[in-house]
Amino acid sequence: MVEPLTHIVRKAGDTETKLPKVAVLRWGHRVRDKRLTAHVALTARALGVSKFILADVKDEKVKKTVEKVTEKWGGAFHFKMGENWRQIVKDWKTTNGIVVHLTAYGENIQTSNVLQRIKSTGKDLLVIVGCQKVPSAFFSKTVSDFNVAIGNQPHSECSSLAIFLDRFFEGRELSKEFERAKVTLIPQVRGKKMVEV
Ligand SMILES: C[S@@+](CC[C@H](N)C(=O)[O-])C[C@H]1O[C@@H](n2cnc3c(N)ncnc32)[C@H](O)[C@@H]1O
Repeated sequence: MVEPLTHIVRKAGDTETKLPKVAVLRWGHRVRDKRLTAHVALTARALGVSKFILADVKDEKVKKTVEKVTEKWGGAFHFKMGENWRQIVKDWKTTNGIVVHLTAYGENIQTSNVLQRIKSTGKDLLVIVGCQKVPSAFFSKTVSDFNVAIGNQPHSECSSLAIFLDRFFEGRELSKEFERAKVTLIPQVRGKKMVEV
């Protein structure tokens, strides 16, 4: 069962802004893609996603890597794995969320109004990213409410997820505060400054 997500809150000046809730479902995890799965999860975490689900398979090593990052760098980010993708989608829809499948074959995020239509639903998002060739059911109405292309050229699950999230959150995710962080980076013109919190 997909648990409800908590709103992500950031501080913008004196005001607090709530970002919409987004979860990511990663489908496919071949041996050669293990590092990439970790990178997809870390991209999701850094760019405002609250939950990452590695569907159908389990990989304790990837889970540990991602959880270690969250422990050190903060934020509420849940890593789940092993659950059947159909069940995840079913549960998500039951809680009134919508499903966005990122695919080079979909509606182009730049040349169509697909992003506007997604935003206008006002619903929580489950974003599906693939790996090798995905099940054809991902393209169907019963699974994906929207098939979105980050340009209609094939590239990567990491880049497509990053661009989608940045457009969806309109850049606000980049100033999000990560609560309970043990360390934080202070932006510098040159050099590195990391402080313990
Ligand atoms: C390496 S691609 C897989 C391509 C695979 N050969 C296919 O035909 O579906 C892995 C994942 O990256 C994402 N992806 C790649 N290019 C994309 C694009 N232009 N727009 C949106 N998502 C993309 C999709 O989620 C895809 O499942």
